[in-house]
Amino acid sequence: MTKNFDVELHNIQKMFGSNVVVDNFNLQVEKGECISFLGPSGCGKTTTLNMIAGFLEPDQGDILIKGKRVNGVHSNKRELGMVFQTYSLFPHMTVQENVAYGLNLKKVAKDEIVRRVKEVLEVVKLPHLGERYPKQLSGGQRQRIAIARALATEPSLLLLDEPLSNLDAKLREELRDELKRLQKEIGVTTIFVTHDQEEALYLSNRIVVLDHGKVEQIGTPLDIYNSPSTEFVHTFIGKSNRMEGRIQSQEENKLTLITDSSFILTGIRRDHSFSTDEKVSIYVRPEKINIATKEFPSKGSNQVSGTVKLTSFLGAYTECEVEVAHHTISVRLQDSHQEVQYKTGEKVYLQWKPEDVFVFSAKE
Ligand SMILES: Nc1ncnc2c1ncn2[C@@H]1O[C@H](COP(=O)(O)OP(=O)(O)O)[C@@H](O)[C@H]1O
Ligand SMILES: [Mg+2]
Repeated sequence: MTKNFDVELHNIQKMFGSNVVVDNFNLQVEKGECISFLGPSGCGKTTTLNMIAGFLEPDQGDILIKGKRVNGVHSNKRELGMVFQTYSLFPHMTVQENVAYGLNLKKVAKDEIVRRVKEVLEVVKLPHLGERYPKQLSGGQRQRIAIARALATEPSLLLLDEPLSNLDAKLREELRDELKRLQKEIGVTTIFVTHDQEEALYLSNRIVVLDHGKVEQIGTPLDIYNSPSTEFVHTFIGKSNRMEGRIQSQEENKLTLITDSSFILTGIRRDHSFSTDEKVSIYVRPEKINIATKEFPSKGSNQVSGTVKLTSFLGAYTECEVEVAHHTISVRLQDSHQEVQYKTGEKVYLQWKPEDVFVFSAKE
């Protein structure tokens, strides 16, 4: 086994009763990487993180940290920093005492502890709050202190389990920026668990998308967004319009599709292979669709007309729901492109490029 990775999971499996909660999980995390585990609630993110942390043992497979097999090794001996969703500070200890906790356990010298505590409180930009108790802090401040505490022992690995989920939207964004800055500055290898796709895209070098205990895809944010390997990945990350149809013909990488509403669409073939007449799900993202009140000059492929049903102004963009035959298609208009405000009932034309069409085999 190699020694070049900070974390390695080899065929990890975990069952609770007869439920397979984590199935054949393989991963290699490089030094300094920030990896997200992303997936819906119950898909096995926390269970996997707890196995890496040493709170749970896998039923099968090996876990390596810095090249060493750690199955059966106590959590305290794994040199980890951890932050959880709920505030896990000790209520009867001041901020300083909380942050110093791990250093005291490690029997670090007193003056070194003082120096480290001061340093990490500066890193999280709360050097003035050392004397306070957790109940005298806001939710955001508590999570920053929890992060400071996790960093104080200079862990070789930082494990974060939905640390931003209990914060309100604005604070969540602030702390997300902060985490990104910290991760870059300190360069600590990080595994970040979240069900929030935007958080994962924003923070990670690579994302592991999980569903029902299975790894659906591992890739950079761009890979995951632009080259989803499964329908689940495509639909979990961002919004997408779905149509049902069949493969009418295929020629090299070009797919001709016929939807159930008899629209002929053109897509491109990625890694998937199809058979002619195969039933497929066809997707196009709202931000990839052009909209106009006149027909687009290139009449050919992927042009449909419809009626505006609803428009919603959302600040940075406007979302337009267009009724096309039996479908409702969402179109997202960036503000800068939006010279026209479309009205309910107005006839419009929609068009999108073949490369923006995603096609997956339908489960029949
Ligand atoms: N201690 C346990 N005993 C039995 N089932 C559990 C236990 N912990 C988690 N589970 C189940 O395992 C699955 C995965 O849980 P979890 O890893 O917490 O998911 P996530 O963190 O992705 O939301 C869920 O179906 C959950 O109900
Ligand atoms: Mg969880």
